[in-house]
Amino acid sequence: MNLILLGPPGAGKGTQAQRLQQARGLVQLSTGDMLRAAVAAGSEIGKRADAVMKRGELVSDEIVVGIIEDRIGQPDCAKGFILDGFPRTTAQAEALDAMLARKGMKLDAVIEMVVDDAQMVDRITGRYTCAKCGAGYHDTNKRPKKSGVCDVCGGTQFTRRADDKAETVKARLDAYHRQTAPLLPYYRARGVLQQVDGMAEIDQVSAQIDKLLDRLK
Ligand code: AP5
Ligand code: MG
Repeated sequence: MNLILLGPPGAGKGTQAQRLQQARGLVQLSTGDMLRAAVAAGSEIGKRADAVMKRGELVSDEIVVGIIEDRIGQPDCAKGFILDGFPRTTAQAEALDAMLARKGMKLDAVIEMVVDDAQMVDRITGRYTCAKCGAGYHDTNKRPKKSGVCDVCGGTQFTRRADDKAETVKARLDAYHRQTAPLLPYYRARGVLQQVDGMAEIDQVSAQIDKLLDRLK
């Protein structure tokens, strides 16, 4: 099964993609995570992406399409994948259609996570992750059971994303509405768009996604 999770920054794409990866064995393909890894590695792509991401703008279509094309061609993706944060422009969606057609693959569903923008700033500015295993936490919504210690691996170092400052989040939300929201009618016209209420609790959002995926089987 090949899916896209579509929604503004903070909608819960990464949270739900990780759950789908564990529950259904699908591969999470997050262009944001891949770009952050490139920045951390200091690669040529990372150098080009770093400043753009810190401003909350979109990295060029050419870079992200290249990254996804390489990744989708790897053997583990044959069992199904979840695109998290890609496509984000009409040009990216068209490039994805073309690459899937070339590889004889298809999209089963595009799941829009419908959320209230005003609450996304809080969700994002409160977010942090374990530096060792990447488990996600939030200052108020999801604290580790023991303060300062990761529930999953016992790590004691945590990190925050460079683009998770309030002013950058506003720029990211703006980029979503200008450049990514036009993908909603694009996928609706192709009959693959589904919606879930992304303001519900995390477990309930997962339950809504499960229900619609079970219907697709
Ligand atoms: P990317 O990494 O994709 O970030 P984003 O889209 O801005 O989204 P986030 O990762 O912030 O949010 P999310 O929806 O994953 O939410 P999460 O599950 O973490 O992109 C970053 C940058 O990279 C872009 O700005 C751009 O520069 C570049 N980029 C990436 N892809 C690109 C592309 N295709 N083209 C061009 N440029 C690209 O949840 C957020 C928080 O809320 C967490 O703390 C979580 O615990 C909490 N939470 C989740 N669900 C719920 C819930 N239901 N209720 C309460 N809290 C919740
Ligand atoms: Mg994410």
